[in-house]
Amino acid sequence: MYLGLDFGTSSVKGVLMDDHQKLIATATSPLKVSRPHPGWSEQNPESWWKAANLVVAALRKAKPKAVAAVKGIGMSGQQHGATLIDKNGKVLRPCILWNDARSFVECEDILKACPNAKAITGNIPLAGFTAPKLLWVKKHEPEIFSQIAKVLLPKDYIRFRMTGTYGSDMSDAAGTYWLDVAKRDWSDTMLSATGLRREHMPELFEGTDVTGRITEKLAKAWGMPLMPVVAGGGGDNASAAVGIGAVKDGQAFVSLGTSGVMFVSNKKFSPNTARAVHAFCHAVPNTWHQMGVILSATASIEWLAGVLKTPAPKLTAALGKKLEGPSSVLFLPYLSGERTPVGDSQIRGAFLGLAHESDVNEMTHAVLDGVAFALRDSFEALNAAGADVKRLMAVGGGTHSEIWLKIIATVLGVPIDLPVAGDVGGAFGGARLAMIAATGQDFKAVCTPPKIAKTIMPETKATAAYAAAYQTYTKIYPAIKGLSHV
Ligand code: XUL
Repeated sequence: MYLGLDFGTSSVKGVLMDDHQKLIATATSPLKVSRPHPGWSEQNPESWWKAANLVVAALRKAKPKAVAAVKGIGMSGQQHGATLIDKNGKVLRPCILWNDARSFVECEDILKACPNAKAITGNIPLAGFTAPKLLWVKKHEPEIFSQIAKVLLPKDYIRFRMTGTYGSDMSDAAGTYWLDVAKRDWSDTMLSATGLRREHMPELFEGTDVTGRITEKLAKAWGMPLMPVVAGGGGDNASAAVGIGAVKDGQAFVSLGTSGVMFVSNKKFSPNTARAVHAFCHAVPNTWHQMGVILSATASIEWLAGVLKTPAPKLTAALGKKLEGPSSVLFLPYLSGERTPVGDSQIRGAFLGLAHESDVNEMTHAVLDGVAFALRDSFEALNAAGADVKRLMAVGGGTHSEIWLKIIATVLGVPIDLPVAGDVGGAFGGARLAMIAATGQDFKAVCTPPKIAKTIMPETKATAAYAAAYQTYTKIYPAIKGLSHV
């Protein structure tokens, strides 16, 4: 039996998977994001730990025997967050998350300090990445910076709580901007550009490696007498890829979580910094991946739901199931700035074309369209970089809305396959990594494609109107850039 734990932004999800990769039970515990200042986004690492314990308790309540048989644990996690630890393992400040926009000046500082940063990391520095966040702390909170003993990514902080060891996996480490992504090793040059050294970093592992075992004390508390091994695990997108078997060259998927991601697996390191495409290590050995990342996918519809005080599923259900064409209103989902393709953390969102007749449904429709258009920007960027995506799987909580998937299929012009249990893809990937780590099986044999629950085809009668609306959408960013910068 294997446990996968996915530390997302809005929740921690857990899955129990048996030796035949059958899903035995799932549990979820919600998380909150705090925004103490415009553009900031933080979470208290203790809240991840509490949520993880609640998830394990819920799984144990449902399947005590299965939990007692757990041999391996694998974690998937929101990437890039800066969890700062002192020499006693104490957390020094709330974690600065992947969608925090504060460190845009520090991105420039890194490039000045290290002109070949793009060549080493294969990426442009973005405010979301970990390294610029540390420069921000160094500048604005020097008393905290001086106490830092380790910088950990969110799931790796939980690894520390579970095993007492400091470790990370290559896919997550690639998102720090301190990794030499081609060599799969920390870069001393990149570390010194932010005033840090190798000692500040956790040990590096492949996602499929054993990084340690849970402590005896935790094994008792969680009812896991076999003292399961903990696998390297992966960043949430790489783990979701493992979960749906996207580990071979060219295999692609779209993730509709708090962020939106277009992901493609690569057999070799394939950087493409031109349109802010991310080029990271995969969570399996000797494999890399590219992705286009938009910062607010379900975060956009959740924002609207918050403003209108109406749950998001109710808003999207009111649109019905048939797609006639795009909304007459356009929406730019840049609530926290944007990564791919513009790499601009100072831009903010917009509605365009509001009129007296614009009602709740029109605005909901505009938000769903806007996220789909932003995903098309990433899709174009990946295809321009050599991917040739003809069909996609979709994972993440946003896949519960069929109308949204229909819009995305229409905007991208490709069929979208919906895997069974795709909404727990990251956690399932974690469980698969745990199984590989515990048994030594070949990752290609374990990471097979899932069963497809249904396929969503593009709505051909709406294709032309959507193509025209996308053309208009692409003109908005250059037009409002100067006006909308914070
Ligand atoms: C990827 C990214 C997000 C987070 C949160 O670069 O920032 O997808 O991992 O899900």
